[in-house]
Amino acid sequence: MKKRILTGDRPTGRLHLGHYVGSLESRVKLQDEYEQFVLIADVQALTDNFSNPKKVRNNVREVLLDNLSVGLDPSKTTFFIQSLIPEIAELTVFYLNLVTLERALRNPTVKNEIKQKEFGKSVPAGFALYPVSQAADITVVNADLVPVGEDQLPMIEQTREIVRKFNSLYGETFHEPEALVGKVPRLVGTDGNAKMSKSLGNCIYLSDTPEEVYKKAMSMYTDPQRKHATDPGKVEGNPVFIYHDTFNPNKDEVEDFKLRYREGRIGDVEVKKRLAEVINNFLSPIRERRKFYEENPSEVDKILKEGTAKAREVAMETMKKVRRSMSIDYFV
Ligand code: TRP
Repeated sequence: MKKRILTGDRPTGRLHLGHYVGSLESRVKLQDEYEQFVLIADVQALTDNFSNPKKVRNNVREVLLDNLSVGLDPSKTTFFIQSLIPEIAELTVFYLNLVTLERALRNPTVKNEIKQKEFGKSVPAGFALYPVSQAADITVVNADLVPVGEDQLPMIEQTREIVRKFNSLYGETFHEPEALVGKVPRLVGTDGNAKMSKSLGNCIYLSDTPEEVYKKAMSMYTDPQRKHATDPGKVEGNPVFIYHDTFNPNKDEVEDFKLRYREGRIGDVEVKKRLAEVINNFLSPIRERRKFYEENPSEVDKILKEGTAKAREVAMETMKKVRRSMSIDYFV
């Protein structure tokens, strides 16, 4: 039997290059070797978008299209909608007993997000505790591996703690899942910020047009000390070179650019123009697949519907095991 992968995305916006190198690339690579489940985490998205459910709904399709366009094959990867799997909610309730409030609030990603979102003293309980629900996402299919960006590592750590506690209290029931961080754990934004993030407005999206990519590449943050093409420039930590390293398959060209940049023999414009081409070449097959699915909306509906039905079956099997382990398997 193949090992299982579970990973997912919040449907709050389109996916970008950071998502690609953090998780999507691993999903594509591993879809043959593993039985893969990708959830569209609408329940989680609602924890901080509960007043705007339409936004969440509209992005369910966007996020699925992004996943399909990078080359995930629906005959190998099961896509499903979180809110249509009530077993996840059920499992979350049982897990809440195994996590202290203190522990939940110590999760560094959640702590950070609470600060960023400026909830003040009104942090929704569902938001503070969403990592517990994420543990249920992962374990409801008894996943072995979770491909994620670096910011998600605390979630997997918390999931592992919950699994260990569950197994020790109620008997061996779940695998302890491992995180798998992609080639670039955290991609810088076009503005030089440490993280590409929708809320910072520094993203190149998988669905950007060639013109948008060109514009974004040309206005990227580079070496702020460098005023003229003849000034020696800094390559380390320079987002333009980080992107070249990540997306330019011609390593000799990248080395040549770096050498000339350091010696003040190449202008920012030339390096950026080439970067726009490199990213557009990378996105070209992605755009084509997206176009196919955009033109076949009934196919997209079918993928979600059938995937959700399959995930539901797996989740129901898991809950049978859980109920048995917890001695709440009445009337069977
Ligand atoms: N928290 C993830 C994100 O913000 C999305 C997510 C929800 C997820 N459930 C998951 C990721 C389970 C991995 C496994 O991107």
